[in-house]
Amino acid sequence: CGIVAYVGHREAAPLVLKGLKRLEYRGYDSAGIALLNGNGLKVYKKKGKVTDLEGELAGKELHATIGMGHTRWATHGEPNDANAHPHYSFHRKLAIIHNGIIENYAAIKKSLLAKGREFRSETDTEVLIQFIEDIQENTGSSLEEAVRLALQEVVGAYAIVVISEDNPTQLVAARKGSPLVIGVGENEFFFASDASPIIEYTKDVVYLDDYEIAVVREGELKIVTLENAEKTPYVQKVELELEAIEKGGFDHFMLKEIFEQPRSIADSMRGRVNADEGTLQLGGLRDYMDKLAKSKRIVIVGCGTSWHAGLVAEYIFEELARIPVEVEYASEFRYRNPIIKEGDIVIAISQSGETADTLAAIELAKSKGATIFGVCNVVGSSIARATHAGAYTHAGPEIGVASTKAFTAQVTVLTLMALAAAQRKGTISDSLFRQLLAELESIPAKVERVLQAADKVKEIARIFTYARNFIYLGRGLNFPVALEGALKLKEISYIHAEGYPAAEMKHGPIALIDEDMPVVVNATQDSSYEKVVSNIQEVKARKGRVIAITTEGDTNLPGMVDFVIEIPKVHEILMPLVSVIPLQLLAYDIAVLRGRNVDQPRNLAKSVTVE
Ligand code: G6P
Repeated sequence: CGIVAYVGHREAAPLVLKGLKRLEYRGYDSAGIALLNGNGLKVYKKKGKVTDLEGELAGKELHATIGMGHTRWATHGEPNDANAHPHYSFHRKLAIIHNGIIENYAAIKKSLLAKGREFRSETDTEVLIQFIEDIQENTGSSLEEAVRLALQEVVGAYAIVVISEDNPTQLVAARKGSPLVIGVGENEFFFASDASPIIEYTKDVVYLDDYEIAVVREGELKIVTLENAEKTPYVQKVELELEAIEKGGFDHFMLKEIFEQPRSIADSMRGRVNADEGTLQLGGLRDYMDKLAKSKRIVIVGCGTSWHAGLVAEYIFEELARIPVEVEYASEFRYRNPIIKEGDIVIAISQSGETADTLAAIELAKSKGATIFGVCNVVGSSIARATHAGAYTHAGPEIGVASTKAFTAQVTVLTLMALAAAQRKGTISDSLFRQLLAELESIPAKVERVLQAADKVKEIARIFTYARNFIYLGRGLNFPVALEGALKLKEISYIHAEGYPAAEMKHGPIALIDEDMPVVVNATQDSSYEKVVSNIQEVKARKGRVIAITTEGDTNLPGMVDFVIEIPKVHEILMPLVSVIPLQLLAYDIAVLRGRNVDQPRNLAKSVTVE
């Protein structure tokens, strides 16, 4: 979910609505706004997108200089008007917006029901605001105090903002496990799930920490802990530029982000790789390089696309640094009593740095004594802060829900980590080390060449727009790329797609193949090329329609398959950085041709801060 709040001298409603649009990638099944002025507290909310909410607000009197809004990704209760945020307290004196889950809401609700309170929604959030109101009414305590007492009882994760009709200059916010950034202006304050709604007004921000409560009262910001210890707000500058979070002439954020990859890959290497001198430095890992090189085992955790980047890294670390690697879904790892030994390194991969499952996996691994490295895109995010060390991906903000440039940036950074470990361990020859650095530097230009062939991909997308299923195949490093290609298609076009290691096809999925089944094969010229060609023959013998990703100069495959997308030659180890690009484009084009909402596909959210 996304939350925005404002208190100051500007009109709150347009500011909050604009902010919600910037945060809509975090969830978009319903939206709402609460405004506070001399005439009291008003809440408007609506199932659907922020534009639906705007429709609802048309013609209404919205004057207020304190307000807050929410865009929801449903957890408890279906997306409808009643379950949308903000939620009023029972006596409509208070309103709340909330991102996260109150895990013990049922017990709290039971005790409130016993006191005769009634509920208007099925949400855990309404339980929290009624609980706060109940405490206020029973103890006569201030809003700040009531919020603090209520949160002491709460199990779960939250970022919340609460306003009260009784005090129209006051706003109380708190965080545990869900991000909350406070923008500090001249006699005004902005609250949001990330800095994107704030930066056009101020670059001065305070990142609220877990178990902290922020209170703005009469133009003053105060931060206290749940134990009521006052803390001095630490104001820092955000580096984010406005243009980085706007579409810049592209139809969709996803397309912009696909086309940004030559730059984002280069940015992920900037200041780290010097191919001429044959040097590689990862500043954030400097003090940990020995530990990495000496590690007996690496466990990589992540979710979704980040997990796929982990699978690519498994091949690279094992090949170059000869360290055994296991890759786990963070959500599985955290619930199965994993074996972690002294000397194990855990690498957590996360674009947002806020994924709840990944964060929980880190805490578990930490408690078992592992050293944790982060590979995150969002600077200062919860995961980045929870890890011992790490290397940022520097891909810039990714807003399209389907991850693209974050994936290639993750693979780039993980490759650098593997190379650095291999060099330190002495498992890589100097000549291969230098060759790979030089090839890495050539990747942005090669990705650019693939992007220039975007029209070819679009033609293929036209032919297969209405296919009902897809199979993606690849071997070795191209296997995780096949998984990623299938995931992209599923996410944004809602076509069922499966990624498989090409050789495994004969053990099951081959039964699916007939003349209606498009099969996308990563058949680049590498050590498994001949084997992949045999797998293609198996598909063709069953009349499947093959779209092959081939390397430039391959004269063998064009006569054998139905469609060819050529990509430049690169060293096998670096192939995923290039071979994933046509698959991103294919998924994008098919989704657009099907009229899908590419940047905000149904049911998904970009940053999943609940487990
Ligand atoms: C969500 C997003 C995916 C993303 C995954 C992991 O499901 O929709 O695109 O890959 O979370 O996110 P992270 O921010 O941890 O990489």
